[in-house]
Amino acid sequence: MGNKNWDNDYYTKKAKAENYNARSVYKLIEIDKKFSLFNKKNIYVLDLGCAPGSWLQYAVKKTKPSGHITGIDLTACQVEGASTIKGDINNIDTLELNTKFDIVMSDMAPQTSGHKFTDSQMSLELARTAWEKTKEVLKAGGSFICKIFQGEDSNLLFKEIKPSFKQLSRFKPQTSRDISNEIFFIGKDFIKT
Ligand SMILES: C[S@@+](CC[C@H](N)C(=O)[O-])C[C@H]1O[C@@H](n2cnc3c(N)ncnc32)[C@H](O)[C@@H]1O
Repeated sequence: MGNKNWDNDYYTKKAKAENYNARSVYKLIEIDKKFSLFNKKNIYVLDLGCAPGSWLQYAVKKTKPSGHITGIDLTACQVEGASTIKGDINNIDTLELNTKFDIVMSDMAPQTSGHKFTDSQMSLELARTAWEKTKEVLKAGGSFICKIFQGEDSNLLFKEIKPSFKQLSRFKPQTSRDISNEIFFIGKDFIKT
């Protein structure tokens, strides 16, 4: 058993002890620590690929008592203080939510096949969809968090998104597994055109 397994156990146990639904929350905590995204209470947050709900839990906690948190996932998911919708993001018209959001975040991940190229292409598709939806519903000045598996084309998407934010960064949280090639795009200060 190497360090990686030890780390996985550590964060899974920590999540349980702290009543979070998944260890993924520690990635969001790191992101927030570095980029200070959840620094206001009365904000609207949209979480794409929200199940089992640890990012929702964090968003509720950081924005309470007046935050408005909405999550969408293929899998049903319930978190106190958040509204959730079960469905495929590709079939959901986010404009019908009739809300503009201060933060849109996507931790969506495909069912991995183990084939690196295929997996990164599927992840790219999800990230692209997240970006298309975000453009429709993000407020000017808002923030975007998006997971993507690094591959040849992920740099192209990064370049495409870059002019829409005053600051767009790539970030690999330390709590992300070493073997995973996931990174996050973090956009701050959306420039609405
Ligand atoms: C890594 S999990 C998200 C974990 C979540 N951030 C948390 O903290 O609990 C990725 C999620 O993306 C969802 N997902 C993948 N493709 C999707 C799609 N097309 N539409 C909606 N959700 C999707 C999966 O169902 C899965 O629950």
